[in-house]
Amino acid sequence: MKKVITYGTFDLLHEGHYRLLERAKALGDYLIVGVTSEAYDKTRGKLNVVDSLATRIENVRKTGFADEIIVEESLGQKVQDVKKYQVDIFTVGSDWTGVFDYMKDYCEVVYLDRTKNISSTMLRIQNRRIQRIGIVGTGRIAERFVPESKLVSGVSTQGVYNPHTESAKKFADRWEIEAYEELEDFYQSVDAVYIASPHETHYDYIKSSLGHGKHVLCEKPMVLKKAQAEELFQYARAHDLILFEGIKTAYCPGFNRLLGVACSGVIGNIRNVEVCFTKLENPANRELTDSLYGGSLTELGSYVMLPVLKLLGDSCEDIRFDVIRGENGLDLFTKISLVYPNAIATATCGLGVKSEGRLLISGTKGYLVAEAPWWKTSYFEVHYEDPLKVDKYSEPFLGYGLRYELSDFLSMINGRNSSEFKLTRSESVALAGIMEKFLSAEGRGRDKAPSEGQRRDNM
Ligand code: CTP
Repeated sequence: MKKVITYGTFDLLHEGHYRLLERAKALGDYLIVGVTSEAYDKTRGKLNVVDSLATRIENVRKTGFADEIIVEESLGQKVQDVKKYQVDIFTVGSDWTGVFDYMKDYCEVVYLDRTKNISSTMLRIQNRRIQRIGIVGTGRIAERFVPESKLVSGVSTQGVYNPHTESAKKFADRWEIEAYEELEDFYQSVDAVYIASPHETHYDYIKSSLGHGKHVLCEKPMVLKKAQAEELFQYARAHDLILFEGIKTAYCPGFNRLLGVACSGVIGNIRNVEVCFTKLENPANRELTDSLYGGSLTELGSYVMLPVLKLLGDSCEDIRFDVIRGENGLDLFTKISLVYPNAIATATCGLGVKSEGRLLISGTKGYLVAEAPWWKTSYFEVHYEDPLKVDKYSEPFLGYGLRYELSDFLSMINGRNSSEFKLTRSESVALAGIMEKFLSAEGRGRDKAPSEGQRRDNM
């Protein structure tokens, strides 16, 4: 019996897939089809797959050509499968010509002509109108957003707004997008807004974007007051709009795997979380000079509080901030201590003090540790009482990692809410509450809206 194997995502199963499977089957007597898992697609940068694994498997089954369907979960699995199933022929479409020549050491390799003018990517774009995204702000993070957005299908970066028109123009020229001088024109030209302006301006921009019927992806910290977060989420929900806080770690595959392992019971009950993120910042930068909204906690607090909220929840019994301040009074180094009924946590962040950045989760049976940069999670270990037993996990983190949150934002706009659990509304509200508590403890909680002049200076 001649065994043939082929692989693919088979998203939105189309004629090209059908014809490939038909010809693959005709190459032998028994056809095995490997369908990629969701996690594998994410790690290899194939974002925005529409159909679930179960649907894709069912669609392949319905073609009637597959004698056996398996799941492809990782790089390097193909050779193992060929050996395991004693395969005679490996086949894929001609778009892969040459890529799988290394398989010739194990079996015959056949590249079948690809069917012209059809692909899952094409169907995804046709099915869902491209979302035109407008960026507010032109800082470092906005610079990273544009190249990342090119890697997510279904979005196009339309233009940029910054009240400081010169900055907007320079940014727009660099990325070959539009620069808008008037906010109204900007809103008219986009479907969704990515807000990457200074923290204190987020609330007003979110409010006016939602008010113009636009979905919003806002950089962390989304807002600095709990009531503001609640109000904005309520408004978005009532108007069928997506409001989404962009903490890249929350959406990356490695961090989600880490949470899964931490909560799986292998380390027992979680009793302690210690997390730290420091980044030495230039003292002349806004982060260390903005006396109202600068400092380590507003800058990095969202990252360090994320694992604490995800693992221990948002109802701690006690929260305390210990701070090392610079000459201008801003927090250079902040330690947040939290007490829960059955656990404790410390979340540390710094812009003017360097420390070891790591995430340590201690449980009744073992502990999980991810070294810096754990916020771009790509590797972590689980240790037990027996020092010889160590479980190691790795997961790619691609580029700047903004592609993951953007892809989930887009899925939500398109009505698929399967990523909502990664950062829930109540977690975002809790984060805003922590910012508020801290700023008020620092005597910076005044209800003072920044003047237009101040905003311009800050952009
Ligand atoms: N295929 C084909 N003809 C097409 C599209 C795909 O022969 N028009 C083949 C591919 O070469 C591959 C298999 O079908 O062997 C599964 O491909 P997959 O990547 O799932 O489909 P695409 O439509 O290429 O998906 P995407 O646009 O997401 O890359």
